[in-house]
Amino acid sequence: MSQRSQRKKDHIDLANKYYLPHPDADFSGINLIRPALPESKISSDSIKTTFFHKIASAPFFIEAMTGGSDESYEINRRLAFCAKEENIAMALGSASILEKEPEQLKSFVIAREINPTGILLANINPLTKPKVAEQIIKELQADALQIHLNAVQEAAMTEGDRDFYWLDNILEIQQLINVPLIIKEVGMGLDPFSVKKLAKLGINYFDVGGMGGTNFVHIENQRTANKDNLFLDDLGLSTVKSLLSNLQEISHVNFIASGGINSSINIFKSLVLGAKYVGIANHFLHLSMQDKNGTALISEIQKLKYQLIILMALFGINKLDDVKKVKYYLSLELTNFLNQI
Ligand code: FNR
Repeated sequence: MSQRSQRKKDHIDLANKYYLPHPDADFSGINLIRPALPESKISSDSIKTTFFHKIASAPFFIEAMTGGSDESYEINRRLAFCAKEENIAMALGSASILEKEPEQLKSFVIAREINPTGILLANINPLTKPKVAEQIIKELQADALQIHLNAVQEAAMTEGDRDFYWLDNILEIQQLINVPLIIKEVGMGLDPFSVKKLAKLGINYFDVGGMGGTNFVHIENQRTANKDNLFLDDLGLSTVKSLLSNLQEISHVNFIASGGINSSINIFKSLVLGAKYVGIANHFLHLSMQDKNGTALISEIQKLKYQLIILMALFGINKLDDVKKVKYYLSLELTNFLNQI
């Protein structure tokens, strides 16, 4: 197995081993105010949405995780099956490995084969050659492309990139591709200053990939002999802080919430804050590892939808476009953070 494939396998094994059932991405600092007179009804239509021109049954999706190893093939097959059954979107893990190991394509393409008309997002690193990015989108018939920004993770990896000059290549990719481009973090959060810069350059989708759930410094620390990376493990912005600060500064682009989300209430709070979609990574991976036919993951997706529909109705909301009308107040810590940033 190549070093890259081995890394993909290690990431899955370690993320699953260190899965946090109670992540903390600062959602407890958001206090929702529920109207006693909701004037609404419980209906599955209330959470239907459009994802890049296709209809999805819910605004949450399977976030980018894997591809590039035999184990990834099996996991992507399973995740894609669940995404299809439940009609939710799915993002694949980084396909940049295909630049060096094109024979790994099948571990990504399986998701498209299983779900030919579903919503599928491709994912690459910011140094991937634009032509390769274009080819990946074509092979996967991807509906959008995620580029992940993962400087802290790279720094924590012994074999990681040491060059973080990414902007020019991102802009070249943006020029070349004909699907929407999403910039995402991988669990350390997007800050509003970087987002503002990228938004000015015409990028319209940002996935905050905030801190509070999967922490790649911890994962990389388990992979390396030199376990001296913990000085990096708190360099992130939580999902809630990233969302709040970005939405306070920039209103004309679309935000996706992800990082430490594994409950209907936190999906709902993300939507209330202004996220358009909500990505769930390790929680779904963990469930998909529990049984090979996807039953555990499918019943969790159904549970999250059911609970989200109830929350929508209880808060007097009949359609997703109105969810931002829900009133809330912030903890002192979050208020203090917003005042200072
Ligand atoms: C990831 N994540 C990720 N992100 C990305 O943009 N490209 C990738 O290839 C991967 N690979 C990957 C593998 C595994 C095993 C996990 C668990 C995660 C990061 C992921 O998309 C997400 O940003 C973080 O995991 C935070 O979300 P959760 O896990 O807290 O829901």
